Amino acid sequence: MSESPLTLSFDPTGIVLDRRQGLSRQLYQALRLRVLDGRLSSGTRLPASRDLAAALALSRNSVVRAYDQLYAEGFIESRVGDGTYVSQLPKLSTKLSTGLSLGFSTGLSTKSLEDTEDSSSKLIHNGPLKRLQNHHLPPPKSGPPRAFRVGIPAFDLFPFEVWAKLQAAFWRNPEPAALGYGDPAGEPQLRELIATYLRRSRGLSCTAEQIVITSGAQQAISLCAQLLLEAGERVAVENPGYRAAGNAFALTGASVHGIAVDNDGLDCAALNALADCRLAYVTPAHQYPTGVTMSLARRLELLAWAERNGSWIVEDDYDGEYRYSGAPLAPLAALDRRGRVLYVGTFGKIAFPALRLGYLVLPRQLVQPFAQCRALAVRHSEVGTQAVMARFMAQGHFQRHIRRMRRAALSRRNALQAGWPVDIPGLGSMPEVSAGLHVKVDVDNLAREQVLIAQAEAVGVELNALSDYWLPGSVPQAGLVLGFAAVPEADIADALGRLRQAWKQR
Ligand SMILES: Cc1ncc(COP(=O)(O)O)c(C=O)c1O
Repeated sequence: MSESPLTLSFDPTGIVLDRRQGLSRQLYQALRLRVLDGRLSSGTRLPASRDLAAALALSRNSVVRAYDQLYAEGFIESRVGDGTYVSQLPKLSTKLSTGLSLGFSTGLSTKSLEDTEDSSSKLIHNGPLKRLQNHHLPPPKSGPPRAFRVGIPAFDLFPFEVWAKLQAAFWRNPEPAALGYGDPAGEPQLRELIATYLRRSRGLSCTAEQIVITSGAQQAISLCAQLLLEAGERVAVENPGYRAAGNAFALTGASVHGIAVDNDGLDCAALNALADCRLAYVTPAHQYPTGVTMSLARRLELLAWAERNGSWIVEDDYDGEYRYSGAPLAPLAALDRRGRVLYVGTFGKIAFPALRLGYLVLPRQLVQPFAQCRALAVRHSEVGTQAVMARFMAQGHFQRHIRRMRRAALSRRNALQAGWPVDIPGLGSMPEVSAGLHVKVDVDNLAREQVLIAQAEAVGVELNALSDYWLPGSVPQAGLVLGFAAVPEADIADALGRLRQAWKQR
């Protein structure tokens, strides 16, 4: 004869079930929550399934299914001939147990929800979570590209047909060796082709062994932050600069210091004045966002600083393929004799950002630790994209596409320069643009900057505020940052027409 549930220490009447949803799942969740938060302590005897079914007006099957799941997960155990008991489990603190209930979709009382929020807000005040909160980036602009979105190349011109054929060919008959675990540093053929490309087009005399494939430039920067910095160590970043890099460094607990940028690039005198600086992050080919190219003298000064101090330089060559006039200067990595420079490249600005494919060229002694770190985080990048990019390069499509993209960016730049409004109060003239995919235009003051951006937004034109690129606590300068490659020339002309009207009306 089974016992009445009311004679047990467990009272099922507190379990409220929603009859419109799966009942055994809800019962399982409610019981699991009670075990975790201690309301059902170890050794408590549970009612026989028939009795619990009667008490909750459920089918016995629903109770059996809930018990089976709890049994499979070790929350309860059955003693032969003696019913079902809550297993002997270590006691969890109430806070932690309610925290664990975060994953539950039902069975939470209002009280336990409050506890959950309380414990998670406490967690957020610790370590990396707290730092993440302090270094939040606005979400990237989404939706189809429009004028003048920054960071977006002319991906309307990407040869998707070719890419699709190469993809299909790879997956139709993949080599068995390609389907297990690969090299954490990346597919050997792709690394070989990238090294050849960099030797030929950048004068960077590197070998395939120095290349580590990453998930875009951002992951390359993030790996540098993880592996080269201890919490509290100093990092120098360009100010104004690429905030996502500064934030990646800050996330490791490093102390991020902004260094001014003048017409020659990073101010090395200011860098020298920053004692004990472990690492400097720079965009020498085309500073983001000012567009300045670092002079050769500055490059040598920066390298000398790194050698003198045993510090690292992270050289982000994110848009190095785009140069419209003048000979490109050798990358810092090509001038580096002492193995102080980590060179970051990306396919995002030649193919498209969502590809998430980039690379590092590393001093030899760093290759193994970087590859190991990737192995621990993701094993390695997905094989298909790497293999297809290797074929894309090996068959000459990549070089052809670079030429196509450079021509398109130049022509879109010309459309922007030709139609840029003049005589707008407070707005500077369009400067010469000899590289990259974006341009900075000065504005008289911050209030005017915000007005110009709001008026542009009202007519569907996207502009970025230069003032957003400064580190917190700096005195920002006003300006507009425009990406000119995202949309074709006709759309640029159309956007400029709307801008002229919007800006001249007031
Ligand atoms: C300076 C700079 N570095 C890196 C990146 C990001 O590159 P990826 O998309 O490969 O992470 C950007 C993106 O716009 C950038 O402006």
